[in-house]
Amino acid sequence: MSIDPSISSAVEITDEEMRSIQEAIMKRYGIDFFNYEPKSFKRRLQRIYRKFNFTSSFDLWSRTLKDKDFVHDFINEVSVGLTSLFRDPEFWQTFKNVCKEHFSDQYRMNVWHAGCSSGEEIYTSAIVWDDLGFTGKVKSIATDISSNALKTAESGKIIQAKLTEYERNLKLYNATSKLDKYFTEGQDEIIFKPKFLDKVTFRNSNLIMEDYGENQYDIIFCRNVLIYFDGPAKEKVIEKIYKALKPGGFLIIGFLDSMLSYLDDERFEYYDLRQRIFRKNNN
Ligand SMILES: C[S@@+](CC[C@H](N)C(=O)[O-])C[C@H]1O[C@@H](n2cnc3c(N)ncnc32)[C@H](O)[C@@H]1O
Repeated sequence: MSIDPSISSAVEITDEEMRSIQEAIMKRYGIDFFNYEPKSFKRRLQRIYRKFNFTSSFDLWSRTLKDKDFVHDFINEVSVGLTSLFRDPEFWQTFKNVCKEHFSDQYRMNVWHAGCSSGEEIYTSAIVWDDLGFTGKVKSIATDISSNALKTAESGKIIQAKLTEYERNLKLYNATSKLDKYFTEGQDEIIFKPKFLDKVTFRNSNLIMEDYGENQYDIIFCRNVLIYFDGPAKEKVIEKIYKALKPGGFLIIGFLDSMLSYLDDERFEYYDLRQRIFRKNNN
């Protein structure tokens, strides 16, 4: 598909146009994008214009209403899946210590990766748990709004080009084993060994719309996801996460998620602020 950058830079999207697109998606597919932070949502829409050669919001709006399959492309483009293995290595060192201190290899841990993207966060935590001898004891659910990202996550595949960065991160984390303990070589990719994914359930889900139950999880990862949401959506998601955590359970957010005003000390202990680790109070 040809890409004309002059089109994307020329197209301004007004708040009204953005709303009408969000309404079209909601009406046609029941998917709620109203709560995304407007500036970054508009940037994402511009990316869609570029990719599909739309020249106006009308093009996007009418395609949304006419073409039922287009919504999958839309979702995949709107959701930014930036992730990496041992992203923020120092965090993962701290995380390992938290797990060592609060859980044991006899305990059956329940974990939720909310916004798991293409899987690197899941693989990283599985490596940490293997280091601690927890493999087989941790049951996880991994959710994302992007079906493409989930498909990749489930396949365990990582493209070779990312290997150098990932090996560097692994060293910074001070891993006790090398990557080849966890990955096999494919043709153009490395593949996370299925035995480390056998207790992970993958599910397509929209964080804003889904209910997550009560007192279910020991750990919830919601790293670098809420950054895209506006204030009311952040509040709503945090309330649901609070309910879904077991008392004493851990919530982990990303370094760029500005969430402190939603994480009040009535509900959460600031367990390690620097590493963005919070703990549900035992009220
Ligand atoms: C930047 S990635 C973060 C991946 C991983 N948590 C990490 O920190 O490395 C954000 C992920 O959130 C997902 N996402 C965005 N909006 C979402 C929503 N409303 N519901 C569920 N997932 C969402 C995106 O599809 C994307 O895969």
